Amino acid sequence: MKKSFLVLSLILLTVSSFAQTPRPFSIEGHRGARGYVPENTIPSFKKALEQGADTLELDVVITKDGKVVVSHEAWFSSLISLDKDSNRIPADKQRENNIYKMTYDEVKLFDVGSIGHKDFPQQEKMKVAKPLLKDVFTEIAKFVKANKLAAPRYNVEIKTEGVAGDDVFHPKMEPFTRMVYDVIKDGKMLKHVIVQSFDVRVLQELRKIDSKLPLALLVGNKDGIEKNLERLGFVPDTYSPNYMLVNAALVAACREKGLKIIPWTVNGVADLERMKTFDLDGIITDYPDRAVKVFKR
Ligand code: G3P
Ligand code: CA
Repeated sequence: MKKSFLVLSLILLTVSSFAQTPRPFSIEGHRGARGYVPENTIPSFKKALEQGADTLELDVVITKDGKVVVSHEAWFSSLISLDKDSNRIPADKQRENNIYKMTYDEVKLFDVGSIGHKDFPQQEKMKVAKPLLKDVFTEIAKFVKANKLAAPRYNVEIKTEGVAGDDVFHPKMEPFTRMVYDVIKDGKMLKHVIVQSFDVRVLQELRKIDSKLPLALLVGNKDGIEKNLERLGFVPDTYSPNYMLVNAALVAACREKGLKIIPWTVNGVADLERMKTFDLDGIITDYPDRAVKVFKR
C-alpha cells in the first residue's frame, strides 16, 4: 500500500512538473542580425548568436555549378551589392545578375556588405561575399565552440520565384530541394534544421524526401490558415505568418492543429511587446538584442 502510494506520488510529481515547464521560445536572427551586420553573411550570423539568438534564419539559392548559396534573392540586389569591379548595380539590371547563371567562383567576387543598407542605418559596412550554406555550418560550429556558446538551430528558407522562376532563377523543385537537403544532411545538421518556404511545392517535395524533417509554411497572404493549409495539403511543424496577421484566433487555430507559430519579421520594440501578449513559439527579427530584452525579461 505504502509502496504504491509512493509510486503514485512520484508519477503525479513528474506529470505536474512537465505541465509547469514552459514551451521553449525561439529567438531567430533574421538573415543573421541584419539590423547590425550585412544580411545572410557569416559575420551577421555570428553577431546574432552574440546577441542571444538561438536560431539563425537564412535564405538559399543555387548557382550554375549546383552550389547552395546563402542569399535572399536569386540575383544580386541593387540595394546591397557591388559587382566584381566594385560598381553599383542599377535596380533595372539586378535580375540580369542572376546567381543561377553564375558559378560560385563568380558569385564570391561580388561584395554584399560595403555599401550597407538604407533601411538599416546602424548596419556596419564591410567587404563580404555571399557564403555557401555548407561553410556557414562549418564556420558557425567553430565560432560557437571557440566562444562557448550554444550551437544554434537553423531556419533555412528555400526561396523560389514560383513556377515562372523554374529553370530561370532556380532548378525545378525536385532537384532544388534535393540539393539543399543534401547539404544539410552532409553537414550532419538534419536534427538542427527546419526548412521554410512560401512556395508549397518546396515543402511538398521535402516531405517526400524526408517525412521527419521539420517544415514551416511561410504566409504573407490574407487567405487564412485553413486555405493555406489546404493549399499545402498537410499540417507542417510550424506556421510562420507575417506578424501583422497574428491575432488570438490565429494562435488558437495553430494550437488546435498542433502547429507551432513563429511570425516574421518583428523589429520594433512596440511590435515585439505586442507579440509578447500572444502564446507564440518564437519570433523572427533583424534585431535579436531587442527580442532578447523583450522576451527574456
Ligand atoms: O523568415 C521569414 C522571412 O524571412 C520571410 O521573409 O522576405 O525576409 O525572406 P523574407
Ligand atoms: Ca527569409
